[in-house]
Amino acid sequence: MTAPTRSCLAACAVLVLAGSVAHAETEPAALVDQQHCMFCHTRDAPFLAPSFQQIAERYRNVPDAQFKLEHKLRLGGKAHWGDMAMPLPADRGGPLSADDAHTLVQWVLSQ
Ligand code: HEC
Repeated sequence: MTAPTRSCLAACAVLVLAGSVAHAETEPAALVDQQHCMFCHTRDAPFLAPSFQQIAERYRNVPDAQFKLEHKLRLGGKAHWGDMAMPLPADRGGPLSADDAHTLVQWVLSQ
């Protein structure tokens, strides 16, 4: 049995990862600031949103979490922690490039 969708997902994730290495220059802290992440999140205490440590914990063993969360950060998605979904970049402080999303998710997952 083959699973074409899954393997595409993996390949795409690898492409995304490879593509962003060269450009990942903006400091995560600057992006967090610029996108007002700490308006709703904190590092270690659930507030309006799950803490970044909770998020990191939840996705620790999810292989394509980086890819999925980058996508979600840029394009949105359904709420699944609680009732409130993450606002889109336009409502947070401006557009978010793929590279910046990558940097942010990497930072969140390292908490
Ligand atoms: C206006 C409030 C708000 C702001 C600002 C905000 N978030 Fe969130 N975030 C949330 C909420 C609420 C959730 C839970 C959403 C859900 O249930 O899927 C969430 C979830 C997440 C998740 C987990 C998504 C998932 O699918 O499990 C990540 C990663 C995340 N936020 C990162 C960020 C980053 C990085 C920033 C800054 C760029 C940011 N958030 C800014 C409210 C916010």
